[in-house]
Amino acid sequence: MAATPSPRAYSKVQIGLHWLIALLIGLNYIFSESIEEAFRAVMSGAPVPEGAPGLHAPIGIAVLVLTLIRLVVRRVQGVPPPLVSDKPLMDKLGQWAHSALYGLAILVPLLGMMAWGGGIGIAGGAHGLAVNLLVAIAFVHAAAAIFHQYVLRDGMLNRITRGN
Ligand code: HEM
Repeated sequence: MAATPSPRAYSKVQIGLHWLIALLIGLNYIFSESIEEAFRAVMSGAPVPEGAPGLHAPIGIAVLVLTLIRLVVRRVQGVPPPLVSDKPLMDKLGQWAHSALYGLAILVPLLGMMAWGGGIGIAGGAHGLAVNLLVAIAFVHAAAAIFHQYVLRDGMLNRITRGN
C-alpha cells in the first residue's frame, strides 16, 4: 500500500469536514430532547409524540458518514506534522484526543442507531455516556487550540481555519 503523504497544511476539504462535523455534533447535542422523549415512549410502549424525533437521527448518520469520509481523505491526502511544543506529554495528549474524537464520532452514532433502530435500552444509555465524553474531549480540544493560538502564539487555529 502506498505511504500516506505528509502535506504542509490541512486541505480545504479537511477543514470543511472538520467544521461541518463539529457543527452537526453541536446541533445534535443541543437538540436532543425530542429523540429522548421519543425513545422513552418507544421503550415504555407509549405512542411516539407527533413530529418526534425530528432530525436527530439523520444528523447523527451524517456525522458517521462524514467522519468515515474524513478518515479516507486523511489517509489519501495525509495531514501536516503535529506542532511540537516543549511539553511532549501535552503534545501526545493532543494526538490521543484527536484519535478519541474520531473514534467517538463513529461510536456515538452507531450506539444511537442500535438504540433507536433495535430498541436496545442499554445502547441508549451508552450513547448518552459516549456523547458526553465526546463533547467533554471536544471542549478541552477547542480550549487547547485557543490556548495555542493566543497564549503560545504558534498559529494552531490557523491550521484548521485558513489552512496554513
Ligand atoms: C470550536 C471547536 C473546535 C476547535 C476550535 C477546534 C480546533 C482544531 C484545531 C486547531 C485543529 C488542528 C490541530 C493541529 O493542527 O494540530 C483541530 C483538529 C482536529 N479536530 Fe478540532 N476543533 C473544534 C471542534 C472539534 C470537534 C467537535 C471535533 C469532533 C469530531 C474535532 C475533531 C478534530 C480532529 C479529529 C482533529 C485532528 C485532525 C487530524 O489531524 O486528523 N474538533 N481542531
